Amino acid sequence: MTAPASAPATIALPDYREQSPAVAERFTKLKQRPVVLSVRGLGKTFDSPEGKVNALQGLDFNVYRREFMCVIGQSGCGKSTLIRILAGLEQPTEGELLLDGNPVHGPGPDRGMVFQSYTLFPWLTVKENVMFGPKMAGRSGTGVEQEARQWIEMVGLSDFENSYPFQLSGGMKQRVAIARALANQPRILLMDEPFGALDAQTRAQMQEYLLQIWKNIDVTILFITHDLDEAVFLSDRILVLKAKPGRVDEIIEVPVPRPRSLDQAIEPEYLATKHRVSELIHPRESRKGEGISIPRLTAADDVVE
Ligand SMILES: Nc1ncnc2c1ncn2[C@@H]1O[C@H](COP(=O)(O)OP(=O)(O)O)[C@@H](O)[C@H]1O
Ligand SMILES: [Mg+2]
Repeated sequence: MTAPASAPATIALPDYREQSPAVAERFTKLKQRPVVLSVRGLGKTFDSPEGKVNALQGLDFNVYRREFMCVIGQSGCGKSTLIRILAGLEQPTEGELLLDGNPVHGPGPDRGMVFQSYTLFPWLTVKENVMFGPKMAGRSGTGVEQEARQWIEMVGLSDFENSYPFQLSGGMKQRVAIARALANQPRILLMDEPFGALDAQTRAQMQEYLLQIWKNIDVTILFITHDLDEAVFLSDRILVLKAKPGRVDEIIEVPVPRPRSLDQAIEPEYLATKHRVSELIHPRESRKGEGISIPRLTAADDVVE
């Protein structure tokens, strides 16, 4: 029997919490690793001319060594505030954060930042940009230059080490920004929608690059995004934030096996995870149009079904 044409197509998806034995084992091992970042009861209230804005409240979570965690949530739910606090650019009003068990207050080279906007120094070459952090830390000599070259090679830009930022595409600039952040050998890389300004194809390429880099070095990544596919593709776990005030809604263990490839975007476990995140951040959309009334602007017999 065929379903009536008007019935919505339904695909039976597995439960996003179901994990294959290999994936379950990966999470067991991940949680046995040391905690790099621990966020405890974190809250932030801004004083603004319109009154107090409670941007974050009672955030509690851990990020394990070499974990890739994405934070997702609607615009205004406090993602940038969270990452700015983690970077030490903003002070929390409640709670604390620990890096390798030690409380952090201000900015430090143990946390590398990559922002959405291009933040390279325009008057420095690619190599000079990458060497900037180590030089600021008082290092000098050929060792620093050799290391910078390695980072530049890792992001595939060896032919451009003497170019200036204005000579690079958006994707290339962000690759330099990643190399520059990694050159300080941070314990954690904090990324705030770093690929948000790139076109879809470059963005997908950058996601693959980032996973390759992450695989090859000992770094933990906290990555902010509002893109569902980006979160599912990149993450070990996705931290979903709820808005007003920003708080943890759910931490999802992504059941998609690694190594990842873009072809997995049609796998049932990928779709199930994406559906769950979508349900959390766009609750109305996931109710299949309930409550949204779209007026019909055509005569009934014109309708092509
Ligand atoms: N400096 C500030 N002063 C007052 N309110 C702020 C400030 N920064 C952020 N906010 C408010 O905090 C909330 C979270 O903002 P933000 O962290 O930028 O969210 P997101 O990055 O998720 O879009 C918003 O309501 C925003 O208006
Ligand atoms: Mg933001």
